[in-house]
Amino acid sequence: MSTLFSDRMQDVPRSFIREILKAAIDPDIISFAGGLPNRALFPVDELHEASEHVFKEQGRTVLQYSNSEGLIELRGWIADRYRLRHGIDISAEQILITSGSQQALDLIAKITLNDGDQVIMEEPGYLGAIQALSLYRPRFLPVGVSEAGLDIDGLQDCLERGSPKLMYMVPNFQNPTGITYPAANRLAVAELIKDTDTLLVEDDPYGELRFRGEDIGSFYHLLPDRTLLLGSFSKTVVPGFRLGWVAAPIALMDKLLIAKQATDLHTCNLTQAIITYYLKNSTIDDHIQNIRAVYGRQCDAMIAALKQAFPADVSFTRPDGGMFIWAQLPPPLTAMQFFEHALAHKALFVPGEPFYTTDAPRHSFRLNFSCVDEGTIATGIDRLAEAFRVLG
Ligand SMILES: Cc1ncc(COP(=O)(O)O)c(C=O)c1O
Repeated sequence: MSTLFSDRMQDVPRSFIREILKAAIDPDIISFAGGLPNRALFPVDELHEASEHVFKEQGRTVLQYSNSEGLIELRGWIADRYRLRHGIDISAEQILITSGSQQALDLIAKITLNDGDQVIMEEPGYLGAIQALSLYRPRFLPVGVSEAGLDIDGLQDCLERGSPKLMYMVPNFQNPTGITYPAANRLAVAELIKDTDTLLVEDDPYGELRFRGEDIGSFYHLLPDRTLLLGSFSKTVVPGFRLGWVAAPIALMDKLLIAKQATDLHTCNLTQAIITYYLKNSTIDDHIQNIRAVYGRQCDAMIAALKQAFPADVSFTRPDGGMFIWAQLPPPLTAMQFFEHALAHKALFVPGEPFYTTDAPRHSFRLNFSCVDEGTIATGIDRLAEAFRVLG
């Protein structure tokens, strides 16, 4: 059997979350483990109407094969939004529609990485990126993330010691910590990167989900020739359509397109047409505003419950947007020890381990607040606090 699988499959971590979710089939368990958007907010009626229109008016076109870049109307809509809302000058030709932003990660790795190439990875970082990039057998160089943003000394050290091909980061409401890099931190990162050959992979699925404070500019403003900006409709519309994109410097588009063709020819044409109709015929800003308001309330409810129920030596982040809070246990208590007790108390979270590229017991864990209502949040955090008290 050992000769059946490719070497590259040896190094790829399993999706730990999927394993955990299997444990969560008991309906009495309150789960803060998933990373799902709130299904109650899906614009189901509007998408239904859009799909009827698309089938009726363009059925034979959208059910045909299409080009690999994606629908030009959709790429144009994304480019307009970048320009009008974020002051980012990206043309439709620089946008490749992908099957979720997850596929963009795969395509970027496919066109850039050879075995052993160095990749700077946030620590802790998005486990789906660790998994996608691991297939290309890079050497990860972890750089810490804290409320102050990316660890600048750690980054400098990585750049001095090696020549990383890619640097992966989620500067807005990071998965898993909920942290946003401050503007000054972004400037310091860009200053260090600008004289290197490292490409920045700025993954931004949560940027639109800010419920507090002001937007902070993308790395695209700072290093336009070096930044690959990833976006997604998963958190603002629905994840089931699997629609995301990569906005890339024009010099990289050709290779990305070849990789896309080789992988799946093109992203589903039907869902692209439906979402394009929806975006052009609905009030998407009102919809996103509603998501922000609901997630903001749920986040505040979770923070209030954590503050009340846990002692001061359990710390946690206070996100300004997104879907996650990151909590820190007092050592020597590990997240896995706490997880086992939490499960016995019928409450779930994701222990820190899968968000790291190195093996070590962790004291931190991720809580999701987007798909649990405020009452359930209060009950679930009480259960976690009870599990914590038993341990203490
Ligand atoms: C940081 C980050 N990047 C990418 C993704 C994948 O998103 P998509 O549904 O667009 O593939 C996720 C999903 O949770 C995520 O948290």
